[in-house]
Amino acid sequence: MSAFRRTSPKAVLAVAAVVLTLALAACGGAAPAPSPTPVPTASAPTPEPSPTPAPSPTVPTWPNILVVAHRGGAALAPENTLGAFANALNIGVDMVECDVHLSKDGELVVMHDPDLSRTTDGKGFIYQMNYADIRNFNAAAKFKGGPWPAEPVPTLGEVLDLVKGKAQVQIEIKVEKIFGRYPGIEQKVIDAVKARDMVDDVIIISFDFPTIVQVKKLDPRFKTGALLSGTTLSLNAAKPHEQFVDEVIAQTGADYIMPSSAGVSDLLVNAVHARGLKIGVWTVDSPGEMRRMAEWGVDAITTNDPIGLKKVLGK
Ligand code: G3P
Ligand code: CA
Repeated sequence: MSAFRRTSPKAVLAVAAVVLTLALAACGGAAPAPSPTPVPTASAPTPEPSPTPAPSPTVPTWPNILVVAHRGGAALAPENTLGAFANALNIGVDMVECDVHLSKDGELVVMHDPDLSRTTDGKGFIYQMNYADIRNFNAAAKFKGGPWPAEPVPTLGEVLDLVKGKAQVQIEIKVEKIFGRYPGIEQKVIDAVKARDMVDDVIIISFDFPTIVQVKKLDPRFKTGALLSGTTLSLNAAKPHEQFVDEVIAQTGADYIMPSSAGVSDLLVNAVHARGLKIGVWTVDSPGEMRRMAEWGVDAITTNDPIGLKKVLGK
């Protein structure tokens, strides 16, 4: 037998398989290594969703709008009494508003109506009565807001003494509807204010334009306000606001234009401001109307409810 034995077909096949495997490996054709089992990692804590901030109610504040207590704040205390004005001061108003008439003996009497019947337990016209008799009646007698101690009908001097140094005062000079103007009332009001050194703390206001003119004529240092009723405003509604404001200024020389809130618009507010004057509206008692006036940019709001107004204005 030859030393060299013939290779069997099986062996040839085996060698070929080995060669093929090595060739595949060299070409990168080896089966991919199984991917390693992922090692669980310590995952970062999921951040807690931050609590949704409660929608902060936008409380608009209008700190510069003056709060004026109408008749001392007639919804809260008997109108035009010392108790009402003291109450308004406690609330912290910027101004109180009061109305004045002249008694038969020439005293400046603080009351809205020309006669006593609506607010006191007396009756009669102020101009036909002496002040000593008027004072005997109770000015809190008809107050509908609950029990209230008796209040005398005050004089303007008493009101000024009470308010001095604590708030400003709008003094409305009333014109008696049937018998006309009280002779000399403007001078008496001016004297009462000057006697207390309160010229800078007072605005004299009236619906009656000649009364306003007379005040300025007697003493131009006094600030005045022209009250405009709803009727006046609607009679002039067709005019451009600028023209209307110019006419009121020409007829009164007033420093403040003071329309009834019922006839006010943002255009009127703008027209007054464009003339460099201030605008005060009255008598505003509902929060919605208070807010609207504030948004229009009025300078002062007169109200029977100064607590409610202060809340709306954020003061
Ligand atoms: O502040 C003005 C307002 O007082 C005018 O109306 O009738 O309440 O005096 P009246
Ligand atoms: Ca008044």
